[in-house]
Amino acid sequence: MKQLSLFPEHNAARQIKQSFRVQVSSARTGEGSDDWQTPQYIIDAADNFLEKIDLDPFSDGEKSLVPAKRKITKQENGLVQVWGVAPHLPQVWLNPPYSMMRQVVNKMRSETIGEFLLLARNAQGTQWFRNLLPITACYGVFNHRVQFVGAPTQAPFDSLLVYGGGDRIEEFQKAFELYLGFCAIAFWIGDKRS
Ligand SMILES: C[S@@+](CC[C@H](N)C(=O)[O-])C[C@H]1O[C@@H](n2cnc3c(N)ncnc32)[C@H](O)[C@@H]1O
Repeated sequence: MKQLSLFPEHNAARQIKQSFRVQVSSARTGEGSDDWQTPQYIIDAADNFLEKIDLDPFSDGEKSLVPAKRKITKQENGLVQVWGVAPHLPQVWLNPPYSMMRQVVNKMRSETIGEFLLLARNAQGTQWFRNLLPITACYGVFNHRVQFVGAPTQAPFDSLLVYGGGDRIEEFQKAFELYLGFCAIAFWIGDKRS
């Protein structure tokens, strides 16, 4: 049974402790990271590199800091919308919900798009990352833990930036040299075990 304190200040102290616990735990685990927004310095560099962002298929709509011409929100569901139709190949920015990476990568592979930049957790051993490699030109791992907008602290995980749909590898390296610890060219060798 819930205990009621006779002393309101005890309730207030308990509430503060509780909210602190939630913040600390989300900072440790990355819980809530599905909704964290990309920081402005990364958006600016991405916008310069892509020259224009036509599409953000996983967007927070009105609140969004991404200057995309078209933003697809959770209600509209970026996994079911058509992203591009030839000959108009959209330049795409992605910082999708990290709990949906496998579906997001499948969708990227099935869509008609131009160049893309994808910001995600550094998870090079995962199936979604392997599935992304055939359409990847190069990728880099950030030289710092990113502090996302809406997050209580820096992320408790490393982040990746993946570039594909074009061959501007040197330009990618230059555009993000301040932020990436290294840049690796992706060579897909297939899954020889299957
Ligand atoms: C990590 S946040 C990034 C937001 C924005 N793209 C950015 O770079 O700042 C992911 C966003 O995807 C939205 N989202 C979640 N599921 C979605 C879906 N099925 N279709 C489109 N957007 C979705 C969430 O509401 C959230 O705003």
